[in-house]
Amino acid sequence: MTSRLTIRKPDDWHLHVRDGAMLKAVLPFTARNFARAILMPNLVPPVATTADAAAYRKRVLAALPPGSTFTPLMTCYLRDDTDPDDVERGFRDGVFTAVKLYPAHATTNSAAGVTDLKKVCRVLERMEKIDMPFLMHGEVTDPDVDIFDREKAFIERTLIPLTKMFPGLRMTLEHLSSKEGVDFVHSAKPQVGGTITPYHLVQTRTDWLGAGLKPYMYVMPVIKTARDRDALRKAATSGESCYFLGTDSAPHPFARKVNVNGVPGMFNSPVALETYAKVFEEEGALDKLEAFASVNGAKHYKLPLNAGTVTLEKSSWVAPEEVKVDGPDERAIVYRGGETIEWRVVGS
Ligand code: DOR
Ligand code: ZN
Repeated sequence: MTSRLTIRKPDDWHLHVRDGAMLKAVLPFTARNFARAILMPNLVPPVATTADAAAYRKRVLAALPPGSTFTPLMTCYLRDDTDPDDVERGFRDGVFTAVKLYPAHATTNSAAGVTDLKKVCRVLERMEKIDMPFLMHGEVTDPDVDIFDREKAFIERTLIPLTKMFPGLRMTLEHLSSKEGVDFVHSAKPQVGGTITPYHLVQTRTDWLGAGLKPYMYVMPVIKTARDRDALRKAATSGESCYFLGTDSAPHPFARKVNVNGVPGMFNSPVALETYAKVFEEEGALDKLEAFASVNGAKHYKLPLNAGTVTLEKSSWVAPEEVKVDGPDERAIVYRGGETIEWRVVGS
């Protein structure tokens, strides 16, 4: 039995670190284990221009623990009125790594998102021309579509036409949550890649709703059935180049998370790499963890592989239930908090 594993230093291709006191509290958990992360732009107001992203990157760098070599990769929050020239400038200047689509009202802080893709065709054309990656929150917002079918409907209604209209546009369907999502990405590779969270690999909707309501498991896209989870596990552990690590760690203040109208998002960076290792071990695929965590994503983004390594060891510890955030009684609930975690990161 493998009890120690060293892999090339991984990257997180989908991460929310927020701003201010929350940023300061959560960033060290990612910077500890990951060399780079794609940072989501859904702040309020959003990170929508090159100037916004340059300023946000500065705040992120200032929040890093001393001596950290972590690199934040910035994204542009696509709006109906996004200027293609600004996007191109930001990409060429190394400020933006990608553009992120939030269909308006699809999820947390998406009110300023895109109301109609026709309005952003000029931006997509430009991105195709300059080979700039396009990241998608892949869910329709049509209230007539059941919440469990929104990824599937997005693929059928939006993504398939988009891949035909822009065959040279590199895309990532983020936080895959369904068998349909997994299958589509495979059929559309290498144009389309997909990130997979730790919690979509572990939980089912029965865990979320079946033994008392667990508000911390409310995420977008919602956690689905065992059939979906099993397809995701098979995909992630296959080593196939189209699937890669994206935690979607998304912390919220406790009171917003545990509320009569709670917000979606699960803060998992304190246990993310350890949870992926658990899943890969259970699937007999620890030899594929490096491809998923440290190789496939970098290749999709056409970025160099990281030089360093991380070492994981089979040695249990108990995850904290919450992380303190500076401010009166502020804290964020941790995914798997209070659970015994099987793997531990012992060196990086
Ligand atoms: O669960 C989610 N939380 N899904 C998203 O798409 C956004 C995220 C957040 O920002 O909290
Ligand atoms: Zn996200």
